[in-house]
Amino acid sequence: MTEHALAAPNDREFKLFQQLILQRLGIHVPEQKKTLVSNRLWKRLQARNVHRFADYYDLINRPEEQRELTQALELITTNETYFFREPRHFDFMREQFLPAKRNQSQLRIWSAACSSGEEIYSIAMLLADQRGNGWELLGSDVNQTMLDKARQAIYIDDRARHIPAQYRQRFCRKGTGPYAGHLRVNPELRQKIQLRRIQLHEAFPDIGRFDLVFLRNVMIYFDDNTRADVVRRVTEVLNPGGYLFVGHAESLHGLRVDLKQVMPAIYQRRS
Ligand SMILES: C[S@@+](CC[C@H](N)C(=O)[O-])C[C@H]1O[C@@H](n2cnc3c(N)ncnc32)[C@H](O)[C@@H]1O
Repeated sequence: MTEHALAAPNDREFKLFQQLILQRLGIHVPEQKKTLVSNRLWKRLQARNVHRFADYYDLINRPEEQRELTQALELITTNETYFFREPRHFDFMREQFLPAKRNQSQLRIWSAACSSGEEIYSIAMLLADQRGNGWELLGSDVNQTMLDKARQAIYIDDRARHIPAQYRQRFCRKGTGPYAGHLRVNPELRQKIQLRRIQLHEAFPDIGRFDLVFLRNVMIYFDDNTRADVVRRVTEVLNPGGYLFVGHAESLHGLRVDLKQVMPAIYQRRS
């Protein structure tokens, strides 16, 4: 038997982590994901020289182990993202949303689970190109490490291949020396965006109202109640007529909210 197999969580241990993750992240981890969770946490057990998941659970619940708890939770979130992901949303912005808002002096947009920043900079590039000024962009995530990456805005070239060449030239700089093979988003765009840690499953801080919210590829991790609650509260921060973009694999079907669907994965607040 390998060392790893010895440390696999038993049912009671897995339930403890399941509850902790639900409570702290609003994320429901089904039984089938047990191996995934234990594989992700395994390196922390090793780093802390702990051999059983129950002991690691006790450790991260100590008040002086907040950092360790944060690290553990950050290993649980799935942060996969890329530039101009789900391009139909960006087409809709360019072809319908932005032309309709031409006479509105200020636009407010929220990327509500922005991960390492690719989503928010995609939006920023499109806004800078199509609108110039007159926009505010808030990016948020539960994962502070991802927000730090978003703030840095340094990406390996391969991850930037979905940025249109013309945008890459205009809004990014090529790295040199130790940053060869990377690019960095220009300071003008970096300064335009605001990043902060917001936990979607908890009451939002005072963030104002938005004309458009990107809530993409995060609801899939929530259980039904959390999903319904998050969508209801996100709808409340939309201006009347404001839009909500969700991931194309996500659906608001069955949720009682004041939204009408205008296209796949695009909803609009009614009143
Ligand atoms: C798969 S990424 C999606 C990134 C981007 N929206 C996209 O579609 O490419 C999911 C993000 O949701 C964040 N997340 C998970 N649970 C969250 C919560 N309760 N509150 C805020 N963000 C959360 C994760 O940290 C992760 O960065």
